Amino acid sequence: MLQLLCVLLASAAAAAAAQEAQEQPFVSAWPENPVVEFGSSLVLNCSTNCKNIRDGGLETNLDKKDEGEGPTWKAFRLFNVSNWDSAPSCYFDCGEDVDMKPHRVNFTVYRVPELVELDPVPVMEVGKNYTLTCRVSSMAPIRNLSVAFLQGGKRLHLQTFEKHAAREASDVVVTHIVTAHQADRGEEISCHAALDLRPEGQLFGQASLNQSLETVDFPVNPQLRPLRYMEVNTSETVTCEVTGVFPAEEAQFEMTFAEERLNLSVTVVGDVARAQAQVSSSIAGSHTLKCTVSLGPVTKTAEENVNVYCLPDLVLTLSPQETFVNEAVEVACYDAHPEATQSPPFSAHIRNSRGVLESRDSLPFRVSVTTTEEDDGQEFTCQVDTEIDGRPIRRKTSSSLTVFYGPQMNDSSCPGALTWKADSKEAFRCSAWGNPPPTVECRKHDVPYAIGMPQLVTKDHQGSYNCSASNWLGSVAKLVVVNVESDEPPTLLIILVILSLASLASAAGVGYYMYYKGHKCGKYRLPRKAKGNPSEEKHLNGSIQTDSV
Ligand SMILES: *[C@@H]1O[C@H](CO)[C@@H](O)[C@H](O)[C@H]1NC(C)=O
Ligand SMILES: *[C@@H]1O[C@H](CO)[C@@H](O)[C@H](O)[C@H]1NC(C)=O
Ligand SMILES: *[C@@H]1O[C@H](CO)[C@@H](O)[C@H](O)[C@H]1NC(C)=O
Ligand SMILES: *[C@@H]1O[C@H](CO)[C@@H](O)[C@H](O)[C@H]1NC(C)=O
Ligand SMILES: *[C@@H]1O[C@H](CO)[C@@H](O)[C@H](O)[C@H]1NC(C)=O
Ligand SMILES: *[C@@H]1O[C@H](CO)[C@@H](O)[C@H](O)[C@H]1NC(C)=O
Ligand SMILES: *[C@@H]1O[C@H](CO)[C@@H](O)[C@H](O)[C@H]1NC(C)=O
Ligand SMILES: *[C@@H]1O[C@H](CO)[C@@H](O)[C@H](O)[C@H]1NC(C)=O
Ligand SMILES: *[C@@H]1O[C@H](CO)[C@@H](O)[C@H](O)[C@H]1NC(C)=O
Ligand SMILES: *[C@@H]1O[C@H](CO)[C@@H](O)[C@H](O)[C@H]1NC(C)=O
Repeated sequence: MLQLLCVLLASAAAAAAAQEAQEQPFVSAWPENPVVEFGSSLVLNCSTNCKNIRDGGLETNLDKKDEGEGPTWKAFRLFNVSNWDSAPSCYFDCGEDVDMKPHRVNFTVYRVPELVELDPVPVMEVGKNYTLTCRVSSMAPIRNLSVAFLQGGKRLHLQTFEKHAAREASDVVVTHIVTAHQADRGEEISCHAALDLRPEGQLFGQASLNQSLETVDFPVNPQLRPLRYMEVNTSETVTCEVTGVFPAEEAQFEMTFAEERLNLSVTVVGDVARAQAQVSSSIAGSHTLKCTVSLGPVTKTAEENVNVYCLPDLVLTLSPQETFVNEAVEVACYDAHPEATQSPPFSAHIRNSRGVLESRDSLPFRVSVTTTEEDDGQEFTCQVDTEIDGRPIRRKTSSSLTVFYGPQMNDSSCPGALTWKADSKEAFRCSAWGNPPPTVECRKHDVPYAIGMPQLVTKDHQGSYNCSASNWLGSVAKLVVVNVESDEPPTLLIILVILSLASLASAAGVGYYMYYKGHKCGKYRLPRKAKGNPSEEKHLNGSIQTDSV
């Protein structure tokens, strides 16, 4: 209906034009600028203002079929327009005296882009440049194509091809370089192709699938917490840390120690990710601690050599361990596993409570001591001192000596004379020492006497006691004389009373002197201070009175 109206309008316009320029014969075609999809068909109407047509038609390499004719026109159907360069021409023959130029039809063959694809965008490192590639499948005409990259609804880049002369379909690849930003993460990116054939044709659009952008930022190498030395068979915590990373929670850690993978615990705080692991080695030597962190396409590694040291496994021997006074004892210090030891230079000492007996810078070594009573229970120590990474390290082992000796008593342990007061409570005191600890027995007139028990003193306790101490190495005896004092007038008390009376008298004298002095002072101060303020005067008065009491 609309088409018919157009045709009528067009023919009316043509008729009007023909009337205006009667003598100007022409050939025209309708549609004027046909736009046809590749492979489809179309009706082309060739017409002229010439009145007596002898012949007419359409010159084309396309398949065609007559679609009707009138006195001034001829219509054709073109099948299967599959030639990109078709340029059909309408011609009419109106006799020899009329020069009719054939009308070449401006023919546009198009093909819509069916497939628009955006090459997979890799995980992008912040600050780096990436090429976005959009592929538009075989389409035509390319000069009417525009390709745009859209990110988060905003157009990044638009490419047009007005200068493209070729009319046939071909694939189109459009690239665009973008610099990755942290904020791009999560944005949708896509590629849009538009074939704009307006006004003769339509606007065709096609878009790629959305892709979600992934960006990472991993600017600096991981840092290993410096652990350069550790002792064999001990466990140490090592830390590997990356800072300024985005997104920190996606950082993947892998740590190895001496080529063995470690169990990690990873924590993330802000833009810092940290992995922690326990390391230990049963073999001394230098081992490599390695930390590899991956974030998207970025992988960074840190390495550190850890020196696993093994200090001497110290053993101290005393031979013999149990002996008597004045005997020689050999004290030896050695390393139980010298083959496993890997230690920095050290100094070794054998010492006891009296000090260092011998020092060396290697093991084993020994020292000989002659025993005394005091050496019973003596602790001998073998000690190794070294320095690791600036820290002093010490290892030691000890052993105690046993010296057996006979009983010993002196005036401290068993006083030779004791003075007791009658009616007081006293305990008989006498002890001895030796190894093994001796038994002590005291006898008065051959009767064993209880030692150490408090008892009420009577005159009967006076006398000599024979105390003997013994162990399997011998015995010693000592005479203890007990003197009991009866309850006579306490002369000492009388003297004390006299003394205290005398001191009281002198104290009273001092007190009087102080009182006199204080009173005099008050007399002087009172008139001097009493000038204006009566309350102040009262106060002063009061304070002076209390002073002098
Ligand atoms: C072709 O065009 C003429 C006028 O130019 C018109 O009269 C005729 O109807 C047209 N034919 C067809 C099939 O559209
Ligand atoms: C259209 O032309 C193409 C290539 O020339 C051919 O392969 C196809 O079969 C034709 N289609 C029709 C309907 O004639
Ligand atoms: C051919 O047609 C296109 C639009 O389809 C137009 O832009 C162009 O100017 C035409 N060329 C000629 C020679 O008429
Ligand atoms: C990235 O591209 C921008 C412009 O797109 C350019 O200025 C810059 O030098 C490029 N950077 C690198 C590292 O290629
Ligand atoms: C693609 O992403 C844009 C922007 O986020 C959105 O507007 C659009 O709906 C998405 N298209 C599809 C097919 O998901
Ligand atoms: C296609 O592109 C050309 C060149 O930019 C333009 O002249 C023409 O109008 C466009 N449309 C069609 C249908 O060819
Ligand atoms: C690591 O952890 C797993 C499970 O917690 C445990 O079975 C495994 O023995 C651990 N490996 C090491 C080397 O500690
Ligand atoms: C370390 O431990 C292993 C296994 O428990 C043991 O065989 C080795 O002797 C130890 N090494 C040292 C120096 O203690
Ligand atoms: C008695 O021997 C002990 C232990 O050997 C000692 O501490 C004390 O000084 C000695 N006393 C006297 C008076 O020699
Ligand atoms: C004390 O007793 C011991 C034996 O217990 C004896 O050998 C010694 O002669 C006695 N001494 C005196 C003075 O009785």
